[in-house]
Amino acid sequence: MKLPEQVHVISHPLVQRKLTLARDIRSTSDIFRRLLGEIAMLMAYELTREYPVDPVEVRTPLAVATGADLRRGITLVPILRAGLGMADGILQLVPQARVGYLGIYRDETTLEPVVYYNKLPPGIAETDVIVIDPMLATGGSCTAAIDVIKQTGAKSIKLLCLVAAPEGIRKLVKAHPDVMVYTAAVDSHLNENGYIVPGLGDAGDRLFGTQ
Ligand code: PRP
Ligand code: URA
Repeated sequence: MKLPEQVHVISHPLVQRKLTLARDIRSTSDIFRRLLGEIAMLMAYELTREYPVDPVEVRTPLAVATGADLRRGITLVPILRAGLGMADGILQLVPQARVGYLGIYRDETTLEPVVYYNKLPPGIAETDVIVIDPMLATGGSCTAAIDVIKQTGAKSIKLLCLVAAPEGIRKLVKAHPDVMVYTAAVDSHLNENGYIVPGLGDAGDRLFGTQ
């Protein structure tokens, strides 16, 4: 597909190598979990590249240096369950980030998202929000998550996923053209059960060993 300008594919060799290992059916839950965290950390490094900074002074042992501080706070919003697998990796880079949780699952028959838990921190509207979920399949879950987050007044929202399907990209960009999407791969299509092909299977089940 021709990618909309809001979609960025992170082609860094380390991200691509780790994604390849994560896709591998032989990667067990412990390996999959480690890889997901590492990929999320590397991708967050790229995603935050353009975040504005303010100059700050810092005293070294010799003199005062001018350094940098992030202008705005960061709020991570993992979509439960599978988004949890990306949170710790990103928090290692931005330990000061706040974390909001959205519980969303896909109805197995209709594939429609069901929001079952919402715990967003106060003041989220003044922060840069990063929504994290490894899979953008039909796009229903991430679109619903961003609908909920926008109700708080948040305006700076980015989505970080691992594997996206063309169907999900189209839905998300149509509903939220102001949201930048960062993904490690854009795969071929969805199968009849709404799974991304070739994808990596059910991310939540692989993370938590529930398959
Ligand atoms: C998975 C995945 C996304 C969603 C993507 O969650 O983590 O949230 O499916 O599909 P969509 O783009 O078609 O909405 P799932 O519903 O399997 O819940 P889980 O993470 O709790 O297993
Ligand atoms: N959710 C997943 O975990 N994997 C897919 O391929 C699609 C939705």
